[in-house]
Amino acid sequence: MNILVINGPNLNFLGIREPSIYGEQSYDDLCREIRDYAFKNEINVKLFQSNHEGAIIDEIQNAYTGKYDGIVINPGALAHYSYALYDALKSVNLIKVEVHLSNINAREDFRRNSVTAKACDRMFYGHGFKGYLYAIDYIKDNK
Ligand code: DQA
Repeated sequence: MNILVINGPNLNFLGIREPSIYGEQSYDDLCREIRDYAFKNEINVKLFQSNHEGAIIDEIQNAYTGKYDGIVINPGALAHYSYALYDALKSVNLIKVEVHLSNINAREDFRRNSVTAKACDRMFYGHGFKGYLYAIDYIKDNK
């Protein structure tokens, strides 16, 4: 099984940005945790992070080659307004799971709505790093 894990804007700043919300662990720590979990579950993962909407859309379109069984995506703030990302996710017929580290329902009002989650099969939020592992499990169980 092959899963693409995408992290959007500012997630490369984990450990630096607002540690009281996102924790003290870094993006590299997140990648390590995902890779270890995937290895134990005999899943191949590709990890991709970009601060650029277009680069993320290119990556989603490239996943269409059929190589991937599913996409795990934390779009960062793009979740709240990017209809281009919504369209890109809609375009690919793969299992898609949106993840947010924080509880987006318990923060500023603008975070309550995710436009991109509406193009995904499932969303996990408020579980920190574990949310990515739940998302991988969801793809594994629904493939
Ligand atoms: C986030 C939540 C978003 O609202 C925010 O813009 C982020 C991170 C999360 O993982 O909790 O960049 O996606």
